[in-house]
Amino acid sequence: QNESTVSITVVGASGDLAKKKIFPALFALYYEGCLPKHFTIFGYARSKMTDAELRNMVSKTLTCRIDKRENCDEKMDEFLKRCFYHSGQYDSDGNFQELDKKLKEHEGGRVSNRLFYLSIPPNIFIDAVRCASTSASSGNGWNRVIVEKPFGRDSESSAALTRSLKQFLEEDQIFRIDHYLGKELVENLSVLRFSNLIFEPLWSRQYIRNVQFIFSEDFGTEGRGGYFDNYGIIRDIMQNHLLQILALFAMETPVSLDAEDIRNEKVKVLRSMRPLQLEDVIIGQYKSHTKGGVTYPAYVDDKTVPKGSLTPTFAAAALFIDNARWDGVPFLMKAGKALHKKGAEIRVQFRHVPGNLYNKSIGTDLDRATNELVIRVQPDEAIYLKINNKVPGLGMRLDRSNLNLHYAARYSKEIPDAYERLLLDAIEGERRLFIRSDELDAAWALFTPVLKEIEEKKIIPEYYPYGSRGPVGAHYLAARYNVKWGDLGIEQ
Ligand code: BG6
Repeated sequence: QNESTVSITVVGASGDLAKKKIFPALFALYYEGCLPKHFTIFGYARSKMTDAELRNMVSKTLTCRIDKRENCDEKMDEFLKRCFYHSGQYDSDGNFQELDKKLKEHEGGRVSNRLFYLSIPPNIFIDAVRCASTSASSGNGWNRVIVEKPFGRDSESSAALTRSLKQFLEEDQIFRIDHYLGKELVENLSVLRFSNLIFEPLWSRQYIRNVQFIFSEDFGTEGRGGYFDNYGIIRDIMQNHLLQILALFAMETPVSLDAEDIRNEKVKVLRSMRPLQLEDVIIGQYKSHTKGGVTYPAYVDDKTVPKGSLTPTFAAAALFIDNARWDGVPFLMKAGKALHKKGAEIRVQFRHVPGNLYNKSIGTDLDRATNELVIRVQPDEAIYLKINNKVPGLGMRLDRSNLNLHYAARYSKEIPDAYERLLLDAIEGERRLFIRSDELDAAWALFTPVLKEIEEKKIIPEYYPYGSRGPVGAHYLAARYNVKWGDLGIEQ
């Protein structure tokens, strides 16, 4: 038979990510009719579970989109019937051989393509890859492995991880996920830049004064402290999510939309960047705070965090791209947990209008007079451009208004989760939104020296109250480059 089948094995099936993101995304793809006709999903983990128990666990995580409630239950039942479970150790060839046998039964002699999603901690990564590739890979179709960060914790450990992976896999079999690349507005960045005439001519040092990448969460590490403490916010958010967005924002026009062309441009821009300097970073850590009778814990109150930990839960940084397009333009990043708001935004502040005729009508605050383009990645996706506008009436007073593309108002569709797009791409072999190993090396090269310095010098983070706007140091850092942080999500 020449019909093919896809088997998706979620390794680490009882973990948080699998429950919260992977199974729901697979179901959403199934609902949309995006999965191939012949597919099987296997959960693989150490705990003992029957197929029925896995189905029960998965069923609790599935939902249908608001606009897709029709036949929801029916679809869920159909989907769950295609889900199975195999219990095994992550380093046991024997257990993976048993899995292989079960997969073969389901594949029924068709050409078999296999996708392994490794949703497991980094210390067991390589064992699982070894076992999957030697004992459970398909002999007649493709084999692909999705891996999640952390991809090491500095240049050396990341390179070592890549070397180990490559003992068992070719680069084009490795799908390194950065789920921010699957977010709708991040994907839209290239559309905005390259299919509108009006933005690209302004996209350079000539018109752009600074660019800000802001990530903010209104909750702390809550139970994830064990993982987080070994990494910190710079590795958790900046070196990957924010830097990936920056690369897409700042890269040159790719030759085509092919994965290699896009990733080539991303690598080039990353390699044009100056490694981050200690004086261009400020770090913070949240402390306990009582508000309205409720006491919010400090980072170090988390039981999984070692006492006296100096791990940053907040960081702000100024980065520079030493190429012709961006010479001298500060790219500022800010990322923090336990802040006052949840959101992620890109803010582009433009230069002042030279010799502005309307300076008098604008008043003294020249910063307010510049244009700003805001791309609100989440929540409540939006793209808006702040412009100066005359307040209607007989006088001449200017006002700041927004040209506004508010997704909820413009598109009545619910936006798919990032994992849906990424899983679909991995099944289809589309590598555009996955991180190539040279990109990863370039990203680590920017952050490794400063991360080492922070750790060696035991730099004390600036403590900020849980639920606050974060350390004031972030404002001093921005002020050094004549920048004011935009205020997350205050405008419509
Ligand atoms: C993950 C980080 O990569 O991204 C988490 O490890 C963070 O610390 C999460 O909470 C944020 O993702 P999202 O999609 O909820 O913004």
